[in-house]
This record gives sequence, C-alpha cells and structure tokens, in this order.
Amino acid sequence: MKKPRLIVAGNWKMNSSLADSTRYLEALGTGLASLPRPLAIDVVIAAPFTLLANCMQTARRTDIQIAAQNVHWADTGAFTGETSCSMLKELGVNWTLIGHSERRQFFGETDVTVRQRAQQAFHQGIRPIICIGETLAEREAGKTEAVVSRQLEAFIEVLPKSGEFAIAYEPVWAIGTGKTATPQQAEEVHAFIRARLKSANLESTPLLYGGSVKPDNFAQLLAQPNVDGALIGGASLVAADFLSMVRTAVSLRDKK
Ligand code: 13P
Repeated sequence: MKKPRLIVAGNWKMNSSLADSTRYLEALGTGLASLPRPLAIDVVIAAPFTLLANCMQTARRTDIQIAAQNVHWADTGAFTGETSCSMLKELGVNWTLIGHSERRQFFGETDVTVRQRAQQAFHQGIRPIICIGETLAEREAGKTEAVVSRQLEAFIEVLPKSGEFAIAYEPVWAIGTGKTATPQQAEEVHAFIRARLKSANLESTPLLYGGSVKPDNFAQLLAQPNVDGALIGGASLVAADFLSMVRTAVSLRDKK
C-alpha cells in the first residue's frame, strides 16, 4: 500500500481579518521555510471566503496551501450565498472543506449535499477534505460506527481511485470543547474507516483527526497507525501553535 501523505490543516472557521491573516501567513511561511526540505507533507489553511484572495497572494512562494471552507455543486446559478469551484479556481484555490459538522448542524448540510459537493469538486479538480463524525448522543448510544459508516457511504462511490483528497474524522463532541478523543478512540474509528476504504481500493486516502487538537496532544494522535494528520480549529488560530504542530508532523513523517 502506498503510504498516505500527511496533512496538517487549519480551519480558521469564521475568524481572522485581512490584516491578521497577512501577519499570520507571513509568520507561518517564514517558520516553514526554516524546516528541512523536502517538507513532504501538506500544510493547508482553510480561510473564510473574503480572505481567500489575500491569503493566496500572501502564501505565494511559501509551503502553505489555501483551502475554502465549503463549495457548491453547481457551476453557476441562483444559489445566493454560495461559491462555485470555478470561483475558487479563479483565485488559484484548489482545496476545500466539505461537510464540516458545523455545516451539518447549523446550515442544513446533509449526506446528499455532501456527496453533490464532493462530486463537483472532483469534476472540477478541487481537492476536498470531507468531514464526518458522530455527536455525543450518537456515541453514547453506541452508534459511532453506524453514523460514520452512513456518512462515508454517502460519498465513497464518487471518490476517484487516483486523486487527491482527504477524509477528516471529527467527533462533534470533541470540537471546540477541549475534550479530545483519546488516541485510542481516534484510532478505533480511523481503523474502521480505513478498512472500508481498503475494500474500495482507497486505502491510501489520508485520514485526518479533528477535535480539540493542540500542540500538546497532536504527537500522540499522530503516532496512531491510521491517523495521517489533523484538521485543527482553535489551535490553528495562533501561527506559532500551528507551526509547532507542522514541526511535529515533519519529525514523525518518516516513522509513519
Ligand atoms: P477545534 O480544534 O477548535 O476543536 O475544531 C476542530 C474543527 O472543527 C476543525 O475543523
């Protein structure tokens, strides 16, 4: 099996500003430039739409790749408030999050729309990080695997056999709560997801963990055999913290 590529991704959610994002990316870019070459991992920042053009400009000639936080399934049309793949491509953005639990919880995202968005991203050459994960009630009811499996089955058939994308397992109860899944809890679900991907000949798909990842718990999570990186919310807002997690990934890369 080809080893999955490691990805350290930050999700700024609805945070930052033009000035702050410029300062942040300059600091991160400088920090990354001091790491041994080749980096051989992907470093991605998912920024709000209004900052994408500025982020692309600031991240030029650095190792930072910029992602959107969502993308629509149509090329153009009457979809107020949405953004298409071609709009992202016009800026040079070629990553996006899809199906984040906050989209599912607060904005009516469903398994069906996640599939539609993912399919369009693949057609248009945008690399999605597709998010799945159970709520606390679902976990406590012993439904974690059923929920994760339902969410995964919704899009597994549209995943290309060769193509770049990632899946992020983000248990909803661990997001923004400071309550990280233990490395064992994360590994259990990641192994479950990997087994299903393997049966679809997709076992090299990077599987990111997300949910209260911080500099002090990242190494332990990444040490798990089926954890190939992280999608980091709160702790990605401080450039030095994010950089330290990139450093951790680079130092563990060859041991994976
Ligand atoms: P936190 O790292 O703030 O828990 O957020 C995780 C997340 O939702 C990343 O997409």
